[in-house]
Amino acid sequence: MRTVLHVVGARPNFMKLAPIFRAVASRKELRQRVVHTGQHYDEKMSEVFFRDLGLPAPDLNLGVGSGTHAEQTAKALVELERVFIGERPDLVSVVGDVNSTLAAALAAAKLRIGVSHVEAGLRSFDRSMPEEINRLVVDRLADHLLTPSADADENLRREGVAPARIHRVGNVMIDALYGSLHVARSLRMPAKMGLTGRYAVCTLHRPANVDDPAILSRVLGALEEIARELPVVLAAHPRTRARMDSLGLVPHGLTVIEPLGYLEFLSLTSGAALILTDSGGLQEESTALGIPCLTLRENTERPITVDEGTNTLVGSEPRRIIETARHVLAGEGKRGRVPELWDGRAAERIAELYGRIA
Ligand code: UD1
Repeated sequence: MRTVLHVVGARPNFMKLAPIFRAVASRKELRQRVVHTGQHYDEKMSEVFFRDLGLPAPDLNLGVGSGTHAEQTAKALVELERVFIGERPDLVSVVGDVNSTLAAALAAAKLRIGVSHVEAGLRSFDRSMPEEINRLVVDRLADHLLTPSADADENLRREGVAPARIHRVGNVMIDALYGSLHVARSLRMPAKMGLTGRYAVCTLHRPANVDDPAILSRVLGALEEIARELPVVLAAHPRTRARMDSLGLVPHGLTVIEPLGYLEFLSLTSGAALILTDSGGLQEESTALGIPCLTLRENTERPITVDEGTNTLVGSEPRRIIETARHVLAGEGKRGRVPELWDGRAAERIAELYGRIA
């Protein structure tokens, strides 16, 4: 029996692991192990996702924690090398673009263990984003590049990746969404939060938006303006909450809440009239849900959400954010469609592939 070892570390990894874990579990020829680096460690940033997504607790948690990029990546690299030498998996499977993804790909590649990168080929072409550096390096190192969409294939081909290594499997995050939507809706989070009419949901956590006090207060100002037209719920990442607290920023008219678990958050977003975000995953989820999304960034590594989906890039300039929000709320936003292979079956295709390559 061959072993697939999954490495995850941060919040956006967990919902991608869940469908893959389930699909691999149904293949008799494969056994699997899950290693959590511990990059995210708060209950609300980690454990709740395992519970909500029906994942067993990880086999190992390496307790890497927070730090600078070098500290976090280096700690994960050292710990993962030790684990890989001990376990000798046949394939290391990584998802996304966080520091844990980079550390796992690097440790495995040097031990000559096959690496599969799920969500390969995404490019923002903006190296000021740490995730862009991670994506570039992981895709250079990975043996198998599993992509969500044709634009990702094209990026990889342009970078000289042999077509035989590129496998378009579709969007595994959307598998998790379709699989959980019914249960999530039954939680009735909007009603529980007293949201009876239209409302907007916002998330904000990118260093580019929250680390500079001037930019953060401008963005919060834009949200306050939008909140004059409909309730706006801001789910604050620990980084954002810490910045707001240290700057004494108390936004008026916004409902600021702690990060929610996967199901509660999906319950909330799936009923929203408008989503404002700087998250990568939420751009995709809003496209799958058909809900207008304003992305508070100047670029995206997920252009298909703009070209085919409901996403519009608005940056962090308040006037542009407010005007686009008004336009969308007046019913003049774009409609969008769900991209090809965002069909809830990406994990099946991944498990079938792992049956052949592990
Ligand atoms: C990481 C990912 C980012 C992803 C985001 C989702 C990288 C480079 N970035 O960014 O791509 O979109 O996760 O959340 O890997 N903290 C807590 N509790 C936790 C985790 C973090 O309080 O459980 C706080 C700490 O103060 C920490 C800060 O958040 O220093 C940032 O955490 P970190 O893991 O460095 O990056 P994220 O901003 O979460």
